Amino acid sequence: AGKPLIAPSLLSADFSDLRREMETVATAPWLHLDVMDGHFVPNISFGMPVIKALRPHSKAFFDAHLMISPVDPHLDALAEAGVDQMTVHVEGNWHLNRTLQRIAALGCKVGVALCPATLPEVLGEVLELVDTILVMTVNPGFGGQTFMPGQLPKIRRLAQMIDENEERTGRRILLGVDGGINLQTAPLVTAAGARLLVAGSSVFGQKDRPATIAALQAAACA
Ligand code: DX5
Ligand code: ZN
Repeated sequence: AGKPLIAPSLLSADFSDLRREMETVATAPWLHLDVMDGHFVPNISFGMPVIKALRPHSKAFFDAHLMISPVDPHLDALAEAGVDQMTVHVEGNWHLNRTLQRIAALGCKVGVALCPATLPEVLGEVLELVDTILVMTVNPGFGGQTFMPGQLPKIRRLAQMIDENEERTGRRILLGVDGGINLQTAPLVTAAGARLLVAGSSVFGQKDRPATIAALQAAACA
């Protein structure tokens, strides 16, 4: 249901020129911002001060993918930095229900992300609190990794859970994927039911960003 949305991930941009890099992907209405802490994932990227500095220069929907643990102490600052959605991992967040409620109370949309080793059923008790589900199709921490086709059944299962939830509640949850998305893998994930496609290296690795985003969009519709 619905047209696939390509969300460029700034992680693969040239960090010495972030604002201009962000402006090259302005044709995409959604920007994916990977926050890493060197603890939940074995890499450190950027945090709230950088997001806050970028915020006035973009009209895009800012989705912060929070690969940090614990995440709770940082939610207020992220809202203050101007993110539109916070996507938190179910792994490493013991009181997920509380965390998701807090994000909503801050006026932000609520996303949850699942690492490759995590079963989809873990979300069964929180669907009512969730706007977006993000399936990691690589182990989080780095851009440019290879897509894991073993995650496709999980995407299909979550699409089914989302349909059932919509029948019950009338509310549609957006299903996303993150990691290894390119022209070859985009049609596989949309066929499995994903409608939000995060793409880092496949977008920022190309010179013509608007054409690349359009090509991914077309591939996702195929
Ligand atoms: C990885 C990040 C991704 C990353 C994807 O931990 O969550 O958002 O930018 O990069 P690609 O698209 O290159 O796999
Ligand atoms: Zn991400």
